[in-house]
Amino acid sequence: MTRSIKLSVDDVSKTFRVRGGRYTEDHLLPVLRHISFDVQEGEIVSLIGESGCGKTTLLRIVQGLVRLDRGEIRVDGKSVTGPGRDRGFVFQQATLLPWRTARANVEFGLELQGMPASQRHKKAQELLELVGLGAAGEQFPHQLSGGMQQRVGLARALAIDPSILLMDEPFSALDAQTREILQRELLRIQHETGKTILFVTHDLDEAIYLSNRVIVLGAKPGRIKKIIDIPFGPNRPELPEMRGDMAFQAIRSEMWELIRNTHAAAA
Ligand SMILES: Nc1ncnc2c1ncn2[C@@H]1O[C@H](COP(=O)(O)OP(=O)(O)O)[C@@H](O)[C@H]1O
Ligand SMILES: [Mg+2]
Repeated sequence: MTRSIKLSVDDVSKTFRVRGGRYTEDHLLPVLRHISFDVQEGEIVSLIGESGCGKTTLLRIVQGLVRLDRGEIRVDGKSVTGPGRDRGFVFQQATLLPWRTARANVEFGLELQGMPASQRHKKAQELLELVGLGAAGEQFPHQLSGGMQQRVGLARALAIDPSILLMDEPFSALDAQTREILQRELLRIQHETGKTILFVTHDLDEAIYLSNRVIVLGAKPGRIKKIIDIPFGPNRPELPEMRGDMAFQAIRSEMWELIRNTHAAAA
């Protein structure tokens, strides 16, 4: 079976020009160097690397909000020149509109698309049910827990039916239990929708548990150290059980070594 390529990151490099700080003049901060990978339809691919290695910058380049110095991003074969509805986002903070109910938050993007109200309501309700919030549509964000807010954020991102979902440490502000529940939920939702996901995390277990492939980034500047295939299929055991698996442990130590070497090199 050949699957189509949803996202191509093709030889992307980025250097920021940074002002002030301990330097009197502008200086150049190389952040990403020669990053290339593809994400195929229906895959979950994680980017992992230490804080500051350029994960968010790479995601914002894919989003079309940060300009790249060289290389190209393609979504469904089309070159990215700015933000677009073919890419959905979920970030660490759900950033819901506080004056809108959960349902109205999910409907927001559909409103912008000019979808008629009745159709919008129906679609929002389906999505709220998909993320396990079928009964919470009339609640306002301040009435929802952090985990529920992230569920609404996910429903909102799915509403526009993007080609690819970009997620930047979406569970890292949650407590450990909620986090594990949402990781499992994300796998279920991905299974039900077939969505393609590019997921950023600095958590090794999370990356292995969620992904078909993990891209390990080195730091200063961010570069690909290795792309690791995860040998667990769609019916993978839950994370606590997976942690006892030899293959899981082997991959985990390999990743840890790769990331640690980066530290050694940078020190
Ligand atoms: N707009 C910007 N201007 C200058 N430097 C930036 C900017 N955004 C990020 N950086 C720097 O780029 C590096 C990578 O940041 P980031 O992509 O946020 O890393 P990560 O998400 O992996 O923690 C950091 O050193 C950060 O300070
Ligand atoms: Mg980041």
